[in-house]
Amino acid sequence: MIEIKRLHRGDEELAQEIVKQFWPEGQLNDECLKKETNYLLASYLDGTFAGFLYAYELDRLEQDKPMMFFYSIDVLPEFRQQGIGKRLIKELKRICTDRNVSKMYVLTDEENEAAMRLYRSTGGKRVMPDNVLFIYKDEA
Ligand SMILES: CC(C)(COP(=O)(O)OP(=O)(O)OC[C@H]1O[C@@H](n2cnc3c(N)ncnc32)[C@H](O)[C@@H]1OP(=O)(O)O)[C@@H](O)C(=O)NCCC(=O)NCCS
Repeated sequence: MIEIKRLHRGDEELAQEIVKQFWPEGQLNDECLKKETNYLLASYLDGTFAGFLYAYELDRLEQDKPMMFFYSIDVLPEFRQQGIGKRLIKELKRICTDRNVSKMYVLTDEENEAAMRLYRSTGGKRVMPDNVLFIYKDEA
C-alpha cells in the first residue's frame, strides 16, 4: 500500500533521513519545514520510505491565486515503476486544488524518459517547447 505524508515542523528526523539518503553530504535546513507554503511529501510503500517530492507555493503579482513550483521528485531505485511518483503528484495536485493554485510547473530534461512520462501521464502539458532554463549560480 502506498501512503503519502506531508512533513511539517516536528518531522525533522524524517526529513533528515530523506536528506541523508539523497544528499549524503547534506544537512537538513529545518527552516524548510517551518514554512506553510513549502510542501515536502514523503511516500511509503507498505510502511517503508520510498521517495519524496518538494514544492514551493509562490505568490503572483497580478492575481491572488498562487502558483506551485514543483521543484523535485525522487523515488529510490528499488521502488520505481510502481506508481509512487504518480501518487506523490496526485497528492500535490490535491493540495493545489485546496490552495486554489492557478498553475503548477516543473522542469526536466528531454532525455529523462521516466520524468517526461511521469509528468505527461499526470496531466502536465509541454506548452512552450522552446523554453530554456538559465541558472545564475555563484552570483545569485
Ligand atoms: C522520475 C521518477 C520520479 C518516476 O517515479 P516512479 O515512481 O518510477 O514513477 P511511476 O511508477 O509513478 O510511473 C509514472 C509513469 O512513468 C513511467 N515510467 C517510470 N519510469 C520509467 C522509465 N524508466 N522509463 C519509461 N517510463 C517510465 C511509468 O511507466 C508510468 O507511465 P504510465 O503512467 O504511462 O503507465 C523516478 O524515475 C526517479 O526518481 N528518477 C530519478 C530522479 C529524477 O529524475 N527525478 C525527476 C527530475 S526532473
